[in-house]
Amino acid sequence: MPMPFTFVVTAAAAVLALPLASANVCPPLGPVLLAPRSPGQNPIVKAAIGSLKATFDGQMKAQMKASAVSVAAKSIHEDGLLFNYHFTPPTQSGLGTTNVDEDTIYRVGSVSKLMPVLALLQDSNVSIEDPVTKYLPALRNAKGSSEVLSVEWDDITIGALMSHLSGLSTDTAQDLALYPTGPWTKMGLPEVAKGTGPSCSGLPGTKLCNATDLIRDMARRPPIYREFTTPVYSNVGYALLGLVVEAATNQTFKEVIQKSIFDVLGMASSSFDGPPKSFAEKGFIPVKESTWNLTLGAFESSGGMFSSTNDLIKFGEAILEHRVLSGAKTRKWLQPTAHTTATGFSVGAPWEIGRTNTLTPDNRTLDVYTKTGDLGQYHAVIALIPDYDLVVTVICAGAEVSREPVSRTIILTTALRALIPALDQASRAEASSNAYTGTFTSASTNSTLSITTDSGPGLVISSLSIRGFNTLSQFSSYSLSALESGAAAAAPPPPTSARLYPSNRRAETISTTTTDNTNVTETAWRAVIDTATEDAKKKLDEQIFYNDGSCVTWFGMDRGAYNFLSLADFVFVTDKGGKVTAVRSPAFNVTFVRTGDEVIVDRDVGVGQGSTSGASKRGLGWGVVVGVVVMGLGLS
Ligand SMILES: *[C@@H]1O[C@H](CO)[C@@H](O)[C@H](O)[C@H]1NC(C)=O
Ligand SMILES: *[C@@H]1O[C@H](CO)[C@@H](O)[C@H](O)[C@H]1NC(C)=O
Ligand SMILES: *[C@@H]1O[C@H](CO)[C@@H](O)[C@H](O)[C@H]1NC(C)=O
Ligand SMILES: *[C@@H]1O[C@H](CO)[C@@H](O)[C@H](O)[C@H]1NC(C)=O
Ligand SMILES: *[C@@H]1O[C@H](CO)[C@@H](O)[C@H](O)[C@H]1NC(C)=O
Ligand SMILES: *[C@@H]1O[C@H](CO)[C@@H](O)[C@H](O)[C@H]1NC(C)=O
Ligand SMILES: *[C@@H]1O[C@H](CO)[C@@H](O)[C@H](O)[C@H]1NC(C)=O
Ligand SMILES: *[C@@H]1O[C@H](CO)[C@@H](O)[C@H](O)[C@H]1NC(C)=O
Repeated sequence: MPMPFTFVVTAAAAVLALPLASANVCPPLGPVLLAPRSPGQNPIVKAAIGSLKATFDGQMKAQMKASAVSVAAKSIHEDGLLFNYHFTPPTQSGLGTTNVDEDTIYRVGSVSKLMPVLALLQDSNVSIEDPVTKYLPALRNAKGSSEVLSVEWDDITIGALMSHLSGLSTDTAQDLALYPTGPWTKMGLPEVAKGTGPSCSGLPGTKLCNATDLIRDMARRPPIYREFTTPVYSNVGYALLGLVVEAATNQTFKEVIQKSIFDVLGMASSSFDGPPKSFAEKGFIPVKESTWNLTLGAFESSGGMFSSTNDLIKFGEAILEHRVLSGAKTRKWLQPTAHTTATGFSVGAPWEIGRTNTLTPDNRTLDVYTKTGDLGQYHAVIALIPDYDLVVTVICAGAEVSREPVSRTIILTTALRALIPALDQASRAEASSNAYTGTFTSASTNSTLSITTDSGPGLVISSLSIRGFNTLSQFSSYSLSALESGAAAAAPPPPTSARLYPSNRRAETISTTTTDNTNVTETAWRAVIDTATEDAKKKLDEQIFYNDGSCVTWFGMDRGAYNFLSLADFVFVTDKGGKVTAVRSPAFNVTFVRTGDEVIVDRDVGVGQGSTSGASKRGLGWGVVVGVVVMGLGLS
């Protein structure tokens, strides 16, 4: 029986095992260890925070005369902010706050776009597959003068608008002809007959666009592409989403966001359609800022929001804690929907997803979900790093940070470069101190599992022997193609890397590995056992047309199974304090406990744990205590 994608295993019969912390690291996408539970207590993180503050102090004092800068980071596992830095510029406008802190209110521009998306994802009456014309039928009349200049409104879905895949124009609000006194005709542009040009925008000196204006103007602003072709940033798409919220709920956009998001999350310093009441004292208003008190009419949902560091942190944290959407919907939301030309940048709804392999010591691929925003002299970015359960915000405003709007992303990068490597260290330190590492044994089955960490991703399986068989060194023999080719009888390729990565399958259950019936948490991890050498991977990378062609973990994580159970599944049992008390292999039906631990209770470890019925869905009844061995001193 030929099997696809086993070539990495079989092709790499080379003998030499290279150092485990490989340059060509290929864990599954996502967290490789549990996100640190107490990062603020970790000395490496503390040192990183100290030096990041010093770096910012130096940079800000040298560069910022009139710009305020607020940078914060928070782990969802701790109460307070992990990092909190604010710079008050020496030159101020005399309006608003004179002391910038985590409650300072700024405009956040297009960070606003997260709000209509979330409101619509929360609305069970709206599907992202619905055509926009279901809510805004008047768009059908917004036809261009020819097919090439026209939009196929019935083919544009809510999801297309959310992911900038509608093909619609970027804007009608920044049309040069809104300012007829500008130098345009001197620059080769034709005259616009009086009274026929664009008449609304919301920018200084222009009239606000309302819904009628926006829909009318859409007839005259041709699309860029047909829908779902390639992402192009669209403010009008988000203005339309604001109108969809109103049509779907028969409430104003402002009311819906206030009730379903700001009030629920306690975001008292956030608002649409004008600043919050406390803006007069808490708002930061740069010198010569002309947008601070504008409302944007139909473009509010695209960029009108006011917010503070504390509020954006609350918002990001609520997303990561699955408090604004269910776990399944949140995970779906935190996915890309389209690539861009930049291999490091993809687009979601409306996430701007930065992909990097330079932030962690193992150089693995890490995705950072951001949304940026700019309005006048205001610039903001919120970043979610789900792998570390971390939210980072940068909000800034003023002349210096406006010379290069991307400053906010450069400031974010400085923060991530300091914090992420330190958090990575903290997750390793916690894995060790919470007893994920060490030697675990099952005396009744003569089985041993040894786990360590190194500078690579995940936990390292340094030895695994089950019922006297050296399971780890012969892992590639658990394969039908190996059986068929007889490779198992010959020398199976030894593993070059054997690592464990956490999954998010987790359940609270009554302990059966101790006798006191305390509750424990069981979390499934996956072993990824690779037999390809660095040289073999390098060669494959050269032979395959796409980047990282040898990185095929996602193809292979669930290949080896026995009696319906994956050989790669390892269930970590942790006590209330998060310490590992046992590791189970359902497929091998072995429970390993820390060598020297007081009580060992072996049991059937089939699937179905976490159900309270005491019986597995697959009929492998569990919870049968078959042996108690008392060894040594109790540790926990
Ligand atoms: C990670 O990348 C950096 C920069 O490219 C390099 O110096 C370092 O050796 C790499 N580390 C690993 C573990 O591959
Ligand atoms: C969905 O629509 C129905 C009928 O219009 C309405 O009664 C219900 O409240 C709506 N549900 C939500 C979540 O808006
Ligand atoms: C939009 O404004 C125009 C005047 O500029 C007005 O005639 C129209 O009724 C307004 N539409 C809405 C939906 O308020
Ligand atoms: C709610 O529906 C009524 C009747 O169709 C309409 O007049 C009103 O403008 C709607 N309100 C909002 C906020 O959309
Ligand atoms: C906004 O503030 C400026 C002063 O900075 C003031 O001249 C202007 O009238 C205000 N505009 C609005 C709409 O309140
Ligand atoms: C237990 O397994 C080891 C190999 O891991 C083997 O050397 C030893 O003989 C086994 N002991 C028993 C009692 O079977
Ligand atoms: C222990 O876990 C069970 C589920 O297995 C749950 O029903 C029960 O509430 C938990 N007890 C405590 C004290 O957390
Ligand atoms: C698993 O092992 C236990 C003994 O530890 C045994 O009672 C049970 O029948 C085994 N289950 C399976 C499916 O082999």
